[in-house]
Amino acid sequence: MSKQSNIKEKIKEQYGQIALADGLLSCCSTSSSSGCCGTSETLLSPVESSTIVGYNQNDLKSIPQSSILGLGCGNPSTFAHLKEGDVVVDLGSGAGIDAFIAANIVKENGKVIGVDITDAMLEKARKNAEINNYQNVEFRKGDIEQRIPVDDNSVDVVISNCVINLTEDKLNTFKEIYRILKPNGIGRLIISDVVTSREVEKTLVNDADWCGCVDGALTKENYLNSIRNAGFTNIEILEERPGNVVEDYNELSEKKTRNITSITVKAFKN
Ligand SMILES: C[S@@+](CC[C@H](N)C(=O)[O-])C[C@H]1O[C@@H](n2cnc3c(N)ncnc32)[C@H](O)[C@@H]1O
Repeated sequence: MSKQSNIKEKIKEQYGQIALADGLLSCCSTSSSSGCCGTSETLLSPVESSTIVGYNQNDLKSIPQSSILGLGCGNPSTFAHLKEGDVVVDLGSGAGIDAFIAANIVKENGKVIGVDITDAMLEKARKNAEINNYQNVEFRKGDIEQRIPVDDNSVDVVISNCVINLTEDKLNTFKEIYRILKPNGIGRLIISDVVTSREVEKTLVNDADWCGCVDGALTKENYLNSIRNAGFTNIEILEERPGNVVEDYNELSEKKTRNITSITVKAFKN
């Protein structure tokens, strides 16, 4: 099995466990150095973690409570200027937190499609939609770096929260996002994710730390270049928040640090 598929299997395993634990596990739990859990060292409740990264209480109260798992590193919808009727895709939708917030805004004449690779997350999200009678939300299975299961040129806004760092082919992920967005400056991405001051060397990647949103992180420069190289324009950082400092050792057993930062980025398809 290649390193790539091994990481993907680990991602499905870990996020499957998180889905089944119903808010009692976070992506910080398996690694002391996770980046998707804000700046606090203590284990917070999902609502507390979400509040720290920028969700407001009214939004959190307005959605199914079991969709809140505290796995995000920002609040992309708050920057997305969504409106009634918009078609929105949420990549790596987890239990549905951002998909449901978006669904409340785009209303019945809009549509939200959540995409995730982990079966237990999809099951949880679909159950949340069914129990709470959301008619305008659908959750589809897909690997966003291979193919997003959505038609070309059909989406107003792509949102995503702390997910693209988990993919190995970031450029292809952004090309896929570009493919599904509407052209002519309508389609846009608003993505919260983590970046790092120094990328980990390939040989030193730790699977648990990749799954914990640390070892897959690109530098800000490489992250923005991936967006640009996929074809996007008017790229803008809307928010930047310092996160954890990660300590690790190189081949010479020298201690090195990496600063993890959460960013929210906006970019357009022309
Ligand atoms: C850190 S969690 C964030 C979940 C959600 N966005 C939130 O804020 O609660 C990452 C999610 O991305 C999903 N994921 C990871 N890699 C993926 C891929 N290649 N394609 C689709 N989903 C993926 C995981 O299954 C997991 O649900």
